[in-house]
Amino acid sequence: MMPCRYDADMTLRPEPGYDLYAPSYKDDHPHLDSFDWEQARTWLRQALEAPTCKPTLLDAGCGDGRTLARVARWELTTQLFGVDISRAMLARAAKRVAGAQFDRLDLTNTDDCRRWAERRTRVNIVTAFFVLVHFSRPEVFFESLGALVQPGGEVLMNSIPQREAPTLKAGTRRFQIQAYHHDPDNIQDYGLAAGWQIVRRQDLAENGQLVSTLFWWRVPSVRSP
Ligand SMILES: C[S@@+](CC[C@H](N)C(=O)[O-])C[C@H]1O[C@@H](n2cnc3c(N)ncnc32)[C@H](O)[C@@H]1O
Repeated sequence: MMPCRYDADMTLRPEPGYDLYAPSYKDDHPHLDSFDWEQARTWLRQALEAPTCKPTLLDAGCGDGRTLARVARWELTTQLFGVDISRAMLARAAKRVAGAQFDRLDLTNTDDCRRWAERRTRVNIVTAFFVLVHFSRPEVFFESLGALVQPGGEVLMNSIPQREAPTLKAGTRRFQIQAYHHDPDNIQDYGLAAGWQIVRRQDLAENGQLVSTLFWWRVPSVRSP
């Protein structure tokens, strides 16, 4: 049998990268969960249970519905939305979470995010796990998420210290997906500069090494233009 040949390593933008990786993404769920899901789940449930009426939630960069499927099972929301740049990921999310509404949206395009919010709604809670790592400019991430959440609403997100993007495999292809390292203290500064308040922040370590920083934010209650 011929030895397996792999394409030379290459770096793909998130859309083609996740389109290619979507069929394998589920295999990564346990690894992704291991970073911070236990803590994220606790905070997310607290955020969802606190309001007097059931909130709306959008998972920004929802991938294949890893988070939304769990939120849907809790039955703590009135409406669930998922947006992502990868149609292949969205197709999997739609299969996994029947009750949610999905749209393709490029979160780096803040105008498109504003238009999405006009067409759908500005939600009470936005989640964005393992997404900021794909933004070269964190200020754009905060601007876009700010356009999607209601004034006074909340955002739960994480930031991972990723100095080099992992090499992924799909069939015979090996590739990386464009990613950027962000220092969590810088991220905090960007959020504060956007006028957001920290509800909670937690740095999570494994074997003494930082693996993830979880942020729970509240956005200002004055509506931005
Ligand atoms: C590592 S996955 C995380 C998926 C999901 N949030 C989770 O926790 O399993 C990153 C996701 O962000 C999406 N993404 C990356 N850049 C994006 C952008 N500019 N706009 C929308 N989604 C984006 C990717 O397509 C991918 O589904």
